[in-house]
Amino acid sequence: AKRDSMFDPKDYIRTVPDWPKPGVQFRDITTLLSNGPVFRQLIDTFIDRYQPVGLDAVVGIDARGFILGAPLAYQLGLAFVPVRKQGKLPFDTFEEAYELEYGEAILQVHADALDPGQRVLVIDDLVATGGTLMAACKLVQRLGADVHECAAIVDLPALGGSQAVLDAGFGFHALCQYE
Ligand code: PRP
Ligand code: ADE
Repeated sequence: AKRDSMFDPKDYIRTVPDWPKPGVQFRDITTLLSNGPVFRQLIDTFIDRYQPVGLDAVVGIDARGFILGAPLAYQLGLAFVPVRKQGKLPFDTFEEAYELEYGEAILQVHADALDPGQRVLVIDDLVATGGTLMAACKLVQRLGADVHECAAIVDLPALGGSQAVLDAGFGFHALCQYE
């Protein structure tokens, strides 16, 4: 089905100033998710882009990437693979460290979550520095799978993350940007 091409996520995202600390403009997607028809339109926008590709799996990033990745995988009839923060996955894992503003954090994926050669979409809600998305892409590569593209609702290009993802050789697609 053809969708409403006028859909703009920015019409529904709430900006919370100075959260979680002074100077940060937090882009809050809960106001997008809390409108049922709009949430459906959001997922359908990704469906329209990725249905024709012939993907094997959707990789969602802990935690907000799960909200997008699971319905997308379900509707496309694909595997859903969670990339999780350290200490949550029970079986053998691969892990990647990534930079946070203070110190670093670790993402993990199950060692048997993907098969070599599988084509996957990596999805999260927002890209800031790109550290999270790049760590997830490296985990996909460690499993021998191919990142078809990274997707997000929001790109913050001033923080350089989407450019870093592109420079690392991964495709990137966001539905909107905040300068
Ligand atoms: C946020 C967001 C992305 C990441 C983007 O998650 O959902 O995953 O930060 O930042 P980056 O591009 O600089 O890496 P957060 O780590 O706050 O965790 P959450 O999803 O559990 O809220
Ligand atoms: N994650 C990192 N920066 C963010 C921001 N400005 N808004 C929402 N999530 C974020």
